[in-house]
Amino acid sequence: MIPFDATADDAGDRLANFEKQLLTLPSRKSYLLPAFHMAQQYLDWLPRESILVIASHLRIPLSEVYATATAYSELRLEKPEYGAWYMCTGVACEAAGAQRIIAAIETVPGKFGRTDCQFLCSLAPICTDHRGRILGRLTENRVRAIFLEDRGD
Ligand code: FES
Repeated sequence: MIPFDATADDAGDRLANFEKQLLTLPSRKSYLLPAFHMAQQYLDWLPRESILVIASHLRIPLSEVYATATAYSELRLEKPEYGAWYMCTGVACEAAGAQRIIAAIETVPGKFGRTDCQFLCSLAPICTDHRGRILGRLTENRVRAIFLEDRGD
């Protein structure tokens, strides 16, 4: 269970810009997913503040907004740890070789995590790298090439 008290203390202008942009969406329940995606675009994740303003603007009960946010694995309710790699271990990515990619990532120093399906299954296996880039059709060689590139080799 993800705590609802995660806040975006360091969001600053990004939160204000998100709130301003959110007002361009109609105040209708059908805009809930676009609002979530907009929040992630501005903030990289869904802190408590974003969920509160989405509920207020779309006039949807807070509990319903929060419950919906927890139902979609591509929505992040925890602040992503920058510098870490996140490998999708959903069914399509597992079938396309996620474990081989994980083995390649774990051989180099750095932080690593796993995520559920990111709804990019046609690009499996997918991973978000330490720079926040989504990499599709990933291979072990490409992972190694990225690490070498970062080291300047
Ligand atoms: S299983 Fe990885 S994106 Fe769907």
